[in-house]
Amino acid sequence: MKWQRKDILGIEEMSVDEIRHILHTAKVMKEILMRPIKKLPTLKGKSVVNVFYEASTRTRTSFEMAAKVLGADTTSLAIAQSSVSKGESLYDTARTIQAMRADLVVLRHPGSGSAKFLADILDSGVINAGDGQHEHPTQALLDIFTMEENLGALDGKNVVIVGDILHSRVARSNVWGLQKLGVNVTLVGPPTLLPVEMEGFGVKMTHDLNSALLGADVVMALRLQLERQKSGLFPSLREYSLLYGLTAERLKKTGKQSIVLHPGPMNRGVEIADDVADGVQALIERQVTNGVAIRMALIYLLIGGSSNVVA
Ligand code: CP
Repeated sequence: MKWQRKDILGIEEMSVDEIRHILHTAKVMKEILMRPIKKLPTLKGKSVVNVFYEASTRTRTSFEMAAKVLGADTTSLAIAQSSVSKGESLYDTARTIQAMRADLVVLRHPGSGSAKFLADILDSGVINAGDGQHEHPTQALLDIFTMEENLGALDGKNVVIVGDILHSRVARSNVWGLQKLGVNVTLVGPPTLLPVEMEGFGVKMTHDLNSALLGADVVMALRLQLERQKSGLFPSLREYSLLYGLTAERLKKTGKQSIVLHPGPMNRGVEIADDVADGVQALIERQVTNGVAIRMALIYLLIGGSSNVVA
């Protein structure tokens, strides 16, 4: 397909063909990434600027590495040391970066819709690296890539996502993407962290993890945002862990050699036990590697122009 988009804002707005094209491109990029010498001149002269208003290890670093493998120059704006601390708005910050002739801006911001706001005002491309509770499209793409790499076609497969669904942009983006690919998605969590309106997305919802696990091909544990306990959304970490923590014993309830994913960072001993996180069914580090390949694919598709590293 001919790539048309200037920006990557969310999975909700993507067609199945676009998702397939990104996954196909990422497969080629992964082969390049796994070479001993992983450096191409493809995007020489192009510049990618990371603008992260929230903390990140995986997403920010993998965008930097992805751009560098493809030969682009990368810069990360250190928000705390930037003029944002003097009150400069997102609008003026973004216009300033564009005036420096950036080709692509990667934005993580606590405001839902912030990436769309930037995309509407900038001529340069924008990639959403997580906007509030709305979407984290590159995470969902790397999750789907990892699932397909291990399970083949996902149509008809069963994916259980357990944890703080209410606040999770990872869950939202995965639900959009997995539904488009014909996956049966079950969302699991305590009533206070499971928004009823998501029933309208066509997913199954339950508070009972043990029964949801039966037949699951993939179990994705989400990070419990510990600050939620202060808001009274669950009584104690111990109780949460007893009901919703993924242990090796509980994982047997799938009745299959299911794969386990976690977007990171993990709270070991809360939503995931050590024996699962470090066990053979967990593909958590593979997700991180695949994250570089997915971000290489997206950067290439958005600013690669006529260069053809990928047929
Ligand atoms: N999964 C994820 O977004 O991790 P980081 O917050 O470390 O980028």
